[in-house]
Amino acid sequence: MMLALSFFLPFLATCLTYATPLSGRSMIVHERREAIPGGFVSHGLAPKDAVLNLRLALVQSDPAGLEEALMAVSTPSSALYGQFLSKEEVEKFVAPAPQSVAAVSAFLSEHGVTAKPISPAGDWLSIDVTVAQANALFNTEFTTFTHTETGATAVRTLEYSIPADLQGHLDFVHPTTTFPESLNRQPLVSIPLPKGVVPLATQANLSTDAVPASCATLITPACLQALYGIPTTRATQTSNVLGVSGFIDQFANQADLKSFLTSLRPDLLSTTGFTLQTLDGGTNSQTRSQAGLEADLDTQYTIGVASGVPVAFVSVGDSTRDGVFGFLDIINFLLAESNPPHVLTTSYGANENGVSRALANNLCNAYAQLGARGTSILFSSGDGGVSGSQSGTCTTFVPTFPSGCPFMTSVGATTGISPETSATFSSGGFSNFFGIPSYQASTVSAYLTKLGSTNSGKFNRTGRGFPDVSAQGEHVEIFFQGASTTVAGTSCSSPIFASVVSLLNDELIAAGKSPLGFLNPFLYSTGLSALTDVTTGNNPGCNTNGFPATTGWDPVTGLGTPNFAALRTAVGL
Ligand SMILES: *[C@@H]1O[C@H](CO)[C@@H](O)[C@H](O)[C@H]1NC(C)=O
Ligand SMILES: *[C@@H]1O[C@H](CO)[C@@H](O)[C@H](O)[C@H]1NC(C)=O
Repeated sequence: MMLALSFFLPFLATCLTYATPLSGRSMIVHERREAIPGGFVSHGLAPKDAVLNLRLALVQSDPAGLEEALMAVSTPSSALYGQFLSKEEVEKFVAPAPQSVAAVSAFLSEHGVTAKPISPAGDWLSIDVTVAQANALFNTEFTTFTHTETGATAVRTLEYSIPADLQGHLDFVHPTTTFPESLNRQPLVSIPLPKGVVPLATQANLSTDAVPASCATLITPACLQALYGIPTTRATQTSNVLGVSGFIDQFANQADLKSFLTSLRPDLLSTTGFTLQTLDGGTNSQTRSQAGLEADLDTQYTIGVASGVPVAFVSVGDSTRDGVFGFLDIINFLLAESNPPHVLTTSYGANENGVSRALANNLCNAYAQLGARGTSILFSSGDGGVSGSQSGTCTTFVPTFPSGCPFMTSVGATTGISPETSATFSSGGFSNFFGIPSYQASTVSAYLTKLGSTNSGKFNRTGRGFPDVSAQGEHVEIFFQGASTTVAGTSCSSPIFASVVSLLNDELIAAGKSPLGFLNPFLYSTGLSALTDVTTGNNPGCNTNGFPATTGWDPVTGLGTPNFAALRTAVGL
């Protein structure tokens, strides 16, 4: 499973009228939505005295400079490789120009409104205004909408304007045309262990190279150690934190972790735990019946694989206000830290077409910021094959979010052991929002040439291809609410790959070297030969067979699965 945070059903037609333009400034329509998103109905104009909290994204001073700096510190052949930026250095690229701050402040103060900065670099401002003020500011009519199924109400608009002279200074205003996500909690399927299967730790010899046959139908940490050559020895570097993100009240349970370690990693201390960080009202209830399948999986396959690496569970609560599920909030939260985690793994996602381009760009740029600070950001690619983050009906392929962002590492799923093949649900494809980054240009183009006219017209040939890499994602044994069970999904693959990265970082730091940071420029160059290419399988969806896996990169399994010994050499250890 990868938990889907999906929203935006098909649009319905509608018709709205707008207030006459403000006198004084010439207003220009800035963002517009053709229709009310499906599932929502209008309840008329919002009460004029209701208070709205709006966020203003200011145009960042130098996103191109940030990207250049990110690539310089992440590309092995660069003289600046591994020389990550400080918090202040990153903020210089992101901070809005003084004239942008001045222009937006002057506009707000004409309306008697003052703003407060809410991001470390000052590129996000927050204002509390009445609906009447907001309507006047942005030449719009905020309206009350209700979601017919969930009953959730939201004050939004289908179109707003900004003064023409603020173009180039004010990036966008939120929430306006982005409707609230209706968090779609997947039915969490746990599959009982196959009969007669003995937990692997009691039967495998962890020091042999051979992969036990039982790993074909039951994946445990010992299987991953054998399959990928992952060391069992404990990491030593206390500064080398691996962050595991949690959303939608998925709680990571310590008692389940203890059962897991006792059964499957008896060589580790069964009391090994994680530290907890919270934002947006996040918590981490330890009531066993409230343990989350996803959060248990994510903590067990980091703590249980990245032996000895300190893990931080970062629980994002329900009071997110970023319009992208809290994905932006968690990055700004980590950017504010002086020592953010070296690796962050996330097993949640959505479909790209449900997110506004402006927000997607802003979030992707936040990944560039954290990457420039030296954090590897990994996400599971999604579980719907070419039909999106979860399987669904479609005529054209549905890229997932945020895998289309070129500044993070997307992880697909494999299954089987000799050899590994792609898991059929492994989401992959090409973004409609982001173009092909240079680090993958030649390998993606080679794939497209091989693909020929297959699936022609169903995907965007100029988009960023994903996933980047893959790891096991079926028959994965976890402990959940006190019992052993197996799960499947790219949700398994991201924490497993993240654990490999954290163990490499541990050795790098111990050797006095920098951690890996943003991985892709390395993975697509010197790291390429340290991955095991997965060349069979495909990812069906939308009434097609999806994309075929093949020799070299493919939009099912990416470049392949980790080979720890080879990666160790490739990173210079
Ligand atoms: C496990 O591997 C070690 C080292 O290769 C060997 O000495 C030992 O006999 C093996 N044990 C079993 C049960 O295969
Ligand atoms: C295809 O992807 C590019 C990004 O490379 C984007 O600019 C373009 O809008 C996309 N086309 C469609 C139809 O979404």
